[in-house]
Amino acid sequence: MSYGNSSPRSVSKTRCDVQIRWMIRRDMSEVLDIERQCFEFAWSEEDFLCCLRQRNCIGMVAERQERIVGFMIYELLKSQLHVLNFAVAPWSRRQGVASQMVEKLVNKLSQQRRQEISLEVRETNLAAQLFFRSQGLHADGVLRGHYEDTEEDAYVMRYQLYPDDEQILPFVPRNRIARIGEDYDAEAA
Ligand SMILES: CC(C)(COP(=O)(O)OP(=O)(O)OC[C@H]1O[C@@H](n2cnc3c(N)ncnc32)[C@H](O)[C@@H]1OP(=O)(O)O)[C@@H](O)C(=O)NCCC(=O)NCCS
Repeated sequence: MSYGNSSPRSVSKTRCDVQIRWMIRRDMSEVLDIERQCFEFAWSEEDFLCCLRQRNCIGMVAERQERIVGFMIYELLKSQLHVLNFAVAPWSRRQGVASQMVEKLVNKLSQQRRQEISLEVRETNLAAQLFFRSQGLHADGVLRGHYEDTEEDAYVMRYQLYPDDEQILPFVPRNRIARIGEDYDAEAA
């Protein structure tokens, strides 16, 4: 299933002023509060710590007036950033917090020579699907029974820095002799 292409990300009507920074140990209780308010099957503190102990896992928070209003956990893979967990506090939604965090992530792509953001979203989580679509991600696959808790399917959603038609293809040198050979083969066929 597809929601469209990587069209320019829409800019929220109202964007509140947030500071986006790395997550630190002291943020954990506020992050856990948000996690519990957002998800029926919430990550435990141990889940967060276990994840953040991995060298390739990064925690990001959005802070507003000294209060955490959103967080994102993502991992650095070879050619992509993979989002593992992401939420905005219910009282801070529809104010552009999540879009500012996605924007931050997109900016990291070119800096880090990675070209893609990917994530899985529950089939029933329409709000998140609409949000990610508004940010230029598109759904390009289904993982059947992906979630152990409910055996729900997941949609895989991706953002590509260079959508297929704009991709910079590697330069393959071709010399004159090779070209003549190809022309000869074509004529002979
Ligand atoms: C999905 C989520 C992160 C969006 O956070 P947010 O800060 O409210 O998003 P933004 O304000 O940046 O929204 C930007 C745009 O996304 C779209 N959007 C966001 N939430 C939407 C919703 N509930 N329904 C429809 N469109 C929505 C809109 O186009 C919105 O722009 P607009 O407000 O100008 O119409 C938030 O709803 C959330 O935390 N949900 C629960 C946790 C979750 O599902 N996480 C994702 C797991 S994969």
